[in-house]
Amino acid sequence: MTTTTLRAGPAFARPVPAPQPAAPGPAAEAAAVGEPLLQVDGVSLEYRTRERVVRATHRVSFDLHEADRFVLLGPSGCGKSTLLKAIGGFIRPVEGEIRLDGRGVSAPGPDRIVVFQEFDQLPPWKTVHQNVMFPLLASRSLGRKEAAERALHYLDKVGLARFADVHPHQLSGGMKQRVAIARALAMQPRVLLMDEPFAALDALTRRKMQEELLALWDEVRFTLLFVTHSIEEALVVGNRIALLSPHPGRMRAEINSHGFTLGSLGGSEFQAASQRIHRMLFEEEGAGA
Ligand SMILES: Nc1ncnc2c1ncn2[C@@H]1O[C@H](COP(=O)(O)OP(=O)(O)O)[C@@H](O)[C@H]1O
Ligand SMILES: [Mg+2]
Repeated sequence: MTTTTLRAGPAFARPVPAPQPAAPGPAAEAAAVGEPLLQVDGVSLEYRTRERVVRATHRVSFDLHEADRFVLLGPSGCGKSTLLKAIGGFIRPVEGEIRLDGRGVSAPGPDRIVVFQEFDQLPPWKTVHQNVMFPLLASRSLGRKEAAERALHYLDKVGLARFADVHPHQLSGGMKQRVAIARALAMQPRVLLMDEPFAALDALTRRKMQEELLALWDEVRFTLLFVTHSIEEALVVGNRIALLSPHPGRMRAEINSHGFTLGSLGGSEFQAASQRIHRMLFEEEGAGA
C-alpha cells in the first residue's frame, strides 16, 4: 500500500497529484489516456448566513478516473456531503473548479446522480418500478417503453425484479437502498455519487450491501464516488481513499486501497491499514490544523 501524507499547513497549496489507479480495470484501460473523468481542483466551499460564513472545505483536490471506486473518508462535519453537493452542481465553489470530462460543472445534470443515506428518498406513492422509471422519463432520456425496460433491467441487477410492483413502505431499509441504487444506475450517470448510503442500516445488512455494491461494480463498472465516516467501509468499498480533516475539510492524504476486499476484514494487514488511517485522521490533528 502506498501512502501520500499531506499536511494542511497555512501555506497549503495543492495536494500532490493523485496517483493513477494501480490496477486499472478494463473500463479504465479503455478510457482516454490523460484526462480524468472528474477533477476536483482546489475547491473551497462555504455556507453564508446573515451572521457568519462557514467554510466547509478548503482547497480540496482529487481526480477520479473511469471505473474508480473513490472514497471520501472523514469525521462528521469535514465537508463530505458539501463536496458531493458541489459535484452534483447544487453549490458553487468560492474557489477552485470542478470539471466533468474537462467541462466545468455549474448545474445539476443526469450525468451525476446521488444516492443518499435516508430511506425516504423514494416517493411513497409510486411503485418500485415507477420510482426507477421516473428520472428516466423526467429527464426525457428515454420513451416510456424503453424506460420501463431499463428500469426492470437494473431492478433485476439489484435482485428486486420480483418487487417491481410493490410500494416502498413494503420494503426493508436495505431493499429501499437497492431501489435507490437501481434508480441511479438506470440513469447511467458518468459518476455515481453515494453519501453514506449504508450508514442507517444494521451491521449485517450493511455488510451485505457492501458486498452487493462490489458485485454490481464488477458487472457494470460504473465510476463511484462514495462518502463514509467508517474506515472499515472505506477500505472495503474503495480502490482509492481521500482522507479529509475537519473545520474546514482539507485533504490530509490519499491512500491506495485496491488490495482490500470484504475477505480482508479482520486480517492483520487490514487492521494495520485501519489503524494507520485512524492515526492520520485523528492523532496528527493537533500538530497540523
Ligand atoms: N446548510 C448549512 N448551513 C450552514 N452550515 C452548514 C450547512 N450544511 C453544513 N454546514 C456546515 O458545513 C460543514 C460541513 O458539513 P457537511 O458537508 O455536512 O459535513 P459531513 O458530510 O462531512 O458530515 C459543517 O461544519 C457543517 O456544520
Ligand atoms: Mg454528510
